[in-house]
Amino acid sequence: MRVAILTGGGDCPGLNAVIRAVVRRMAQSYGGEVIGVSHGWAGLINGEARKLDLRSVSGILPKGGTILGTSRTNPFKIERGVERIKENMEKLKVEALIAVGGEDTLGVASKLFDMGVKVVGVPKTIDNDLSGTDYTFGFDTAINVATEAIDRLHSTAESHNRVMVVEVMGRHTGWIAVEAGIAGGADVVLIPEIPISVDEVCKILVRRHDRGKDFSIVVVAEGAKFQDKDSGYMVVQDEKVDAFGHVRLGGIGAILARAIEERTGYETRYTVLGHIQRGGTPTAFDRVLGTRFGVAAADLVVKGEFGKMVSLQGNKMRSVDLREAVDELKTVDMELYEMASIFFG
Ligand code: F6P
Repeated sequence: MRVAILTGGGDCPGLNAVIRAVVRRMAQSYGGEVIGVSHGWAGLINGEARKLDLRSVSGILPKGGTILGTSRTNPFKIERGVERIKENMEKLKVEALIAVGGEDTLGVASKLFDMGVKVVGVPKTIDNDLSGTDYTFGFDTAINVATEAIDRLHSTAESHNRVMVVEVMGRHTGWIAVEAGIAGGADVVLIPEIPISVDEVCKILVRRHDRGKDFSIVVVAEGAKFQDKDSGYMVVQDEKVDAFGHVRLGGIGAILARAIEERTGYETRYTVLGHIQRGGTPTAFDRVLGTRFGVAAADLVVKGEFGKMVSLQGNKMRSVDLREAVDELKTVDMELYEMASIFFG
């Protein structure tokens, strides 16, 4: 059997673990062949692909990024995009496709499945916001990077008696903020699921200072929104939307830091972690999860179970319908957030 694989959307640590696992499983267990498509959906539309053999995936397990390249191309926004995908799959003689991506890439995969394309999905994103799976790979690396940054910011915040605001990624959910916030011992964590009251944040910081702590760490998710009337908006870097309708988030840390300093008088600095959270080598957890997902995806393809996404439930590999995974975002579990808030202030 000949199967194609592509990686789409923002890159993420663990992508190469998935690619390696698919190639190894297909070749060693099923005698199959794998075609690697370049740059996500763009590569399939333009017919850019190469054969991946055991040699081409050797040594890639610890590497960040994706050896295939990626893009945020939406075939439904490109003339004859879907037809060209179908034509190129025929030309490449691939019977099925493994799409590795987040809500956008798998949203396309789900629609393509409805249009007759044999496709299986693998859930990828540092944001951990895909439904149908307990974890996506990449998330663990991102929270480890963010936790290390928070640890480092602690010592300088303490030396200078400052408030440090740390802006983390996560788009419209606060998984990175809440888990890195818990792990890093943040004094306030702000997430998109709960609009921010600057007054409330300042009250927490003053309470903390009143009990003798003269430094604080505030973790804010890039997609968090202010609830205050004077600044009731989501902060964006660029209003322009990409092919999937997303604006570029970022900048809330700076605005929040200024507001905290103005209202409390505490000297405040901010740090934006940005793409550092997405780069570099995957953690052991993400290497293992990516490997398990890759093997499970190859197995689904060979069994002919298309229109599915591999998923982690508990500690077991399962699969769910692609549609179920992309229908709505998995937002932060409020029980987890309430637990995190025990440590605020
Ligand atoms: O979805 C992953 C993610 O890293 C988000 O957390 C972030 O908002 C976005 O991608 C950034 O995208 P780009 O790499 O296009 O700037």
